[in-house]
Amino acid sequence: MTDAAQRVEETTIPEYLALKGEPVEFRALVRQVTYAAKRVAAELRTAGLEGMLGATGETNVQGEHVQRLDDYANRTFVNNLLRSPAISDLVSEEMPEGLHLAHQDRGGYALLFDPIDGSSNLNVDMAVGSIFSVRHASDVLAAGHTQIAAGYVLYGPACVCVLAMPQNGVNVFTLDPSIGEFMFTRGPVRMPERGTTYGCNEANEPGWSPEVREFVHWLRGPSGHSTRYSGALVGDFHRILMEGGVYLYPADARHPQGKLRLLYEGAPLAFIAKIAGGRATSESEDILDILPSQIHQRVPLVVGSNEELERFLPSSRRNHRAH
Ligand code: F6P
Ligand code: MN
Repeated sequence: MTDAAQRVEETTIPEYLALKGEPVEFRALVRQVTYAAKRVAAELRTAGLEGMLGATGETNVQGEHVQRLDDYANRTFVNNLLRSPAISDLVSEEMPEGLHLAHQDRGGYALLFDPIDGSSNLNVDMAVGSIFSVRHASDVLAAGHTQIAAGYVLYGPACVCVLAMPQNGVNVFTLDPSIGEFMFTRGPVRMPERGTTYGCNEANEPGWSPEVREFVHWLRGPSGHSTRYSGALVGDFHRILMEGGVYLYPADARHPQGKLRLLYEGAPLAFIAKIAGGRATSESEDILDILPSQIHQRVPLVVGSNEELERFLPSSRRNHRAH
């Protein structure tokens, strides 16, 4: 290993961002995100021992049952993010309204996040995640290609933070619990042009469009893909990012707008996929071109490798704008 490679491999996220010339304010903001994620990771490890599993009895703005850990993670993210003076706006899956801090000393960043993605996995000890998007505060309802950065934390066998930055690519950092630091482990990541797996909820098939049905039949038939679906978007997306393939939650009869949320699920993952060389569509448009009209809006999502996406998109829809 060269000295330079050795240095990178022993690099924490703050050191990595400094080495790569990311601005100080952005580094401070990422520090607060990762600090919250470390707290959540620690809580997840012992929640079952402390009686912290199960539902609060409340439903969130999406009509979903709020888990105690959803609530804990949301408070943890909010409390930590508010410590960064660079952040003036917060949007969370768990908060019906966005939080705007009008204080004039506050900088112009907005953080949009899903504090615990895949919460139905919590009570059965399977992987869950947190997703985040960084925008200029003035761009909260702008198209996804205006995002400044995006990332997620996967709480799996290891706790992994993936951070996508237009100038510095998609990089993977793994939490070393012995020192409490996310260390650089891989990057910049290039999503393979084609993969061998796809992930979707096949129980929704009766409500899919003929195009989606035909595509999934192709995936599990002639193309020879295998199914991998954990029920947590972050985990299923992480596999696709690393190994290629396609994740889809299309519109169906029960979810005419799709199930996933644009601002803190679809757009950040589309941004990560794009920087890693993959693609994402809502079936009719590039996810990154969609102009949101409200913070909790849903979007159909098909995201993954170029070859699978080429196959999905009919020629009329293939000319998604290149950003
Ligand atoms: O955030 C929504 C979510 O929990 C994703 O993490 C996951 O991919 C999806 O919903 C699972 O939905 P379903 O249970 O309908 O397959
Ligand atoms: Mn989610």
